Amino acid sequence: MVTMAAGMSRLGTESAFQVLARAKAIEATGRSVINLGIGQPDFSTPPHIVEAGGKALRDGHHGYTAANGIPALREAVAADLHRRHGVEVDPAQVVVVPGGKVTMFFACLMFGEPGAEILYPDPGFPIYGSAIDFSGAKGVPIPLREKDGFAFQAEEVLSRITPRTRLIIINSPANPTGGVSTKAEIDKLVAGLEAHPNVAVMSDEIYSEMLYDGREHVSLLKYESLRNRLILLDGFSKTYAMTGWRLGYAVWPKDLAEPATRLAINDHSCVNAASQWAGIAALTGPRDEVNRMVAAFDQRRRVVVDELNALPGVRCVEPGGAFYAFPNVSALGIPAKRIETGLLEDAGVATIAGTSFGAQGEGFIRISYANSVENIREAMKRIRGWLDAQPKAAERSQLKQPAQ
Ligand SMILES: Cc1ncc(COP(=O)(O)O)c(C=O)c1O
Repeated sequence: MVTMAAGMSRLGTESAFQVLARAKAIEATGRSVINLGIGQPDFSTPPHIVEAGGKALRDGHHGYTAANGIPALREAVAADLHRRHGVEVDPAQVVVVPGGKVTMFFACLMFGEPGAEILYPDPGFPIYGSAIDFSGAKGVPIPLREKDGFAFQAEEVLSRITPRTRLIIINSPANPTGGVSTKAEIDKLVAGLEAHPNVAVMSDEIYSEMLYDGREHVSLLKYESLRNRLILLDGFSKTYAMTGWRLGYAVWPKDLAEPATRLAINDHSCVNAASQWAGIAALTGPRDEVNRMVAAFDQRRRVVVDELNALPGVRCVEPGGAFYAFPNVSALGIPAKRIETGLLEDAGVATIAGTSFGAQGEGFIRISYANSVENIREAMKRIRGWLDAQPKAAERSQLKQPAQ
């Protein structure tokens, strides 16, 4: 009998991958499943990026690269951040990694240990909590509320800081809610953090190019007072539809770029060279495909929100970014996990229970609208059919009454 380290029992998961596997298994039996579960663009990577990856292989880029990423890519990242946020970034502080997830794991390993506390959004991307727990640190949830459009309230974040707090994780635009933090709250948070100079911040800005209705992204990179303790997480999976290429990056504080690179050397040596060359093409090439994808997500967002709000017992605030809607289904009186299972098994629609993103997610489900308008409309029809077949909440509570 083998004995795993205790940390393994604390390591969580991202249930979107389990739902995806189950959806594929159902499809393999010949039944149709519409996938509104997994968070990945349904578009192909733009052709000029694919071509650059192929060319890199044909040109002989087959070996290890620098552990922190090839210099031309780190320079392209710095130039792109300057274009988007108007900030100066030293390419030496950029560490290229196989996906944004790696940055969050590294940050939690770097700061987390028994006795330490790390603040993270709830509902939030499930790997934050998982990586924090694995590190041995105590995860302290920052509740995000529907009434605030799922944006954090600076005072609530600041009030949770203790002498044990090492790291605060924030994410805007957010998974799973599509919530976008306002500049006013970010300003307040940064001002409040001046009283806590030893607390690091990891800002997950992987959806920063997916904003709607004229919203502008406020990067934490813009705040000079944070630059010596800010980890800026970004990547290529979402903006460039490159989830399978495994390419992301972070800007680390000057002193932390070396330890982050050491983690990379221990973990994966470097990102595969072809993906890195493709990444250069993504950052330096034409942007019309990116704009086209964002416009398509925006159109779907409107459809999904209208359709969800027309369903009985469902209400949905308008998401400001990313490609997720997070409808409130609490009026149905059915636990979120049961809704997820019922929709998948009975109605052929993959969604994710809000509870997969934290305790605050009960009463919600996540809908990824990275699917065609036609499929979204068909999915909503199926969901309506499933809801109509459920006993009403009042009937259910009667069913639960003990017999007289
Ligand atoms: C909020 C957030 N951050 C980071 C990631 C990581 O993406 P990747 O590892 O593909 O770059 C995801 C992916 O779903 C995400 O939703």
